[in-house]
Amino acid sequence: MRFLITGGAGFIGSHTADALLAEGHAVRVLDSLEEPVHPKNAIPGYLDSRIEFIRGDVRNESLLLDALKGCDVVYHLAAFQDYLPTFSRFFDVNATSTALIYELIVRERLPIKKVIVASSQATLGEGAYLDAKGRQILPDLRPESQLMKGIWELQAPKGFEGPLQWQRTDESVANPQNPYGMSKIAEENIALYIGRRYEIPSVAMRYSIVQGPRQSFYNAYSGACRVFCLNFQLGREPQIYEDGQQVRDYVNIQDVVAANLLVLHDSRADYQMFNVGGEKPITVCEFASAVAEVFGAKNYLARPCGKYRFGDTRHICSDVSKMKSLGWKPTRTIYDSIESYREWLSQADSAESILDYCNLQMAKLNVIREIKS
Ligand SMILES: NC(=O)c1ccc[n+]([C@@H]2O[C@H](COP(=O)([O-])OP(=O)(O)OC[C@H]3O[C@@H](n4cnc5c(N)ncnc54)[C@H](O)[C@@H]3O)[C@@H](O)[C@H]2O)c1
Repeated sequence: MRFLITGGAGFIGSHTADALLAEGHAVRVLDSLEEPVHPKNAIPGYLDSRIEFIRGDVRNESLLLDALKGCDVVYHLAAFQDYLPTFSRFFDVNATSTALIYELIVRERLPIKKVIVASSQATLGEGAYLDAKGRQILPDLRPESQLMKGIWELQAPKGFEGPLQWQRTDESVANPQNPYGMSKIAEENIALYIGRRYEIPSVAMRYSIVQGPRQSFYNAYSGACRVFCLNFQLGREPQIYEDGQQVRDYVNIQDVVAANLLVLHDSRADYQMFNVGGEKPITVCEFASAVAEVFGAKNYLARPCGKYRFGDTRHICSDVSKMKSLGWKPTRTIYDSIESYREWLSQADSAESILDYCNLQMAKLNVIREIKS
């Protein structure tokens, strides 16, 4: 079979391409090599030479049509995924491009057998909680007035009783709290509804925080893994925001690739949406300590720094039962991810300049704020 992977020069796309090539398929990539993910807009050295590479924007209709022609399956992974307040660009790149793929398939009667789109855990927002009486709530982000006082846990809204307890959140929840998450809801809706209507088997994958080599040093998504690894590599202590007890689930890139291939081959996945996560809830302090261990920082004790990041979710952990019901399960640990990321980092030009870049971006966006006592 011939595959088109949009955004295939990136982290998840290039690993998915390698797995498809290993199965004997032909792979075409359409990628605009966006900065800062790809410094100087250069083709990354890890991209397999057997890949047919088309440089260009997924919103360019004629280029996209050329890229789609002759393909059997599309993985739509290209996305705008920054923290910047360019709200419209999230929809333009992530949602409009998805609609354009279906528009061209329908209009040109292209014999595409399946479309798999990348959604995100960001669609879940704060996820699902239970109140003291066992009633489910889908909370909004915590207000700034609460965070300024250093109160971290979500407070029970009117009509509910605290304390609230976070739950693993399944695919029935759609509660995005930022434009990226909103654009991903649009993307998965476009894929699943238009797919169903025109009988184009389609699947939406809600990835949690994906980790592993080839993740761009400059991508907003590489967050904790990148920043913690960089700090320990430079012999520094990373900053722990809030109290470090925020829960996340981290999924290894190889498990993500396995999920991407499973939904390709299994027709039970058609017209469905799946959480693809690490399953195990891990606090930020636990993650920092694991990174310290891998980097040999023996006496490290994760300590909160008295600051918080505006817009962060408190706890989020995806329920991956639906993906598991197809026979998939996450098999790698955070140690596997950290070790492989460490090796990848050793190929970087300068850890110091990457860390400076991260800090500068954070300062520019004014997302790091201090508790006012
Ligand atoms: N990495 C994660 O933790 C994570 C988590 C949830 C969802 N996702 C989603 O998975 C997909 C892949 O993410 P990734 O981590 O591989 O990101 P990445 O940044 O490594 O790769 C994305 C690729 O898309 C390309 N691209 C961006 N805009 C484009 C455009 N307009 N036209 C053509 N190409 C364009 C970039 O150049 C890049 O090569 C994205 O849709 C992302 O939203 C990723």
